[in-house]
Amino acid sequence: MALLKTTKFISSVGSLTPSLASLPIRASSWWTEVQMGPPDPILGVTEAFKRDTNSKKMNLGVGAYRDDNGKPYVLNCVRKAESLIASKALDKEYLGIVGLGDFNKACAELALGQDSDVLKSKRSITVQTISGTGSLRVGANFLSRFHTVARDVYLPKPSWGNHTPIFRDAGMQLKAYRYYDPATCGFDFTGALDDISKIPQNSVILLHACAHNPTGVDPRPEQWKELSAVIKERKLLPFFDMAYQGFASGDIDRDAWAVRYFIEQGHNILLSQSFAKNMGLYGERVGGFTVVCGDAEEAKRVESQLKILIRPIYSNPPMNGARIASTILTTPELRSTWLEEVKGMADRIIRMREMLVTNLKKEGSTHNWQHVTDQIGMFCFTGLKPEQVERLTKDFSVYMTKDGRISVAGVTSGNVEYLAHAIHQVTK
Ligand SMILES: Cc1ncc(COP(=O)(O)O)c(C=O)c1O
Repeated sequence: MALLKTTKFISSVGSLTPSLASLPIRASSWWTEVQMGPPDPILGVTEAFKRDTNSKKMNLGVGAYRDDNGKPYVLNCVRKAESLIASKALDKEYLGIVGLGDFNKACAELALGQDSDVLKSKRSITVQTISGTGSLRVGANFLSRFHTVARDVYLPKPSWGNHTPIFRDAGMQLKAYRYYDPATCGFDFTGALDDISKIPQNSVILLHACAHNPTGVDPRPEQWKELSAVIKERKLLPFFDMAYQGFASGDIDRDAWAVRYFIEQGHNILLSQSFAKNMGLYGERVGGFTVVCGDAEEAKRVESQLKILIRPIYSNPPMNGARIASTILTTPELRSTWLEEVKGMADRIIRMREMLVTNLKKEGSTHNWQHVTDQIGMFCFTGLKPEQVERLTKDFSVYMTKDGRISVAGVTSGNVEYLAHAIHQVTK
């Protein structure tokens, strides 16, 4: 179409006077048919926040940790690892297709546990990926190519907004199972079990390992046990997304409990990991993708195919973040600093949840806000309705996504009273 227009235009110019015909001709574009896409909902919130001149404005849309002064936080263990790496004057050669070997080993150990039988028997393969998103996409592409017995991926309802396009763009089909109960702002355990028990065999089920985004609602261990049993009975393939290990409870082992339990129960899971949140390495883009296989020989075959899959996408992953993360994980002193710092971040978030509820009560709110402290991790599904969110933004300059999700990381001891006041005003 665009080409046709260009040809017509050039031939009509050709019949004009010589002076006009010799003017430089700008070809019409190839992309005239491309429609304007909708803006990213979260980035849209940030844009509106930036334009607001109210000194009390709060951005609770973005999922990045902030310290108690509302500032981005670079962990001390990261700074120390960076100096250690710089002092070694290492080269900048390409990594292999699957990334930094030391990182992959430490990454898998962090998730599966240092004395994991799967690791001892070498029946898993972990590749370095471009953070959690890249890991999910490599996983989605792997499923699309090799999990040909079923194309459906079941997501919890709701799930992280990027899950749908990641799997859809890789050619998988998206389905959903009940997860969040708006009536209790908690886990719809009965609904989840009921839906999962009807999922066709061999389908993929995506599970948030901890700190479910966007709801902050996680199953309790005894509920995970039942979920594992049903998933096994239905012969489903569990794909764990663990973007917040350590960030939920402050304890890396506790947050990996569900992943390890499923493996113990015989599930050969897929696992995505991100170091964006728990090490604050957002822009470094460091993560891992793991496939737990039947035996070591199968793991080798899977590895060979992951290489074939990754090579034409980005050839090999970036090294800086992986060097930082592996230095932290494998240097005992840095690792213990990290464990303290990740606990510090998780504890601050838990404290902000408590302070928010205390201040709501002080304001005189008679609603039950228990879900705010029951939920875990960076996000809180407040239960606020879209029109209440709109009022919060318009009247109080408090920015969040329309679904009522707030990033608790954006709440500080300096602004929590104001937030409670604003929420009370729109909910009383
Ligand atoms: C549930 C979930 N999975 C994966 C990611 C991936 O994040 P990243 O690509 O920054 O590691 C996020 C980030 O917000 C997330 O919330």
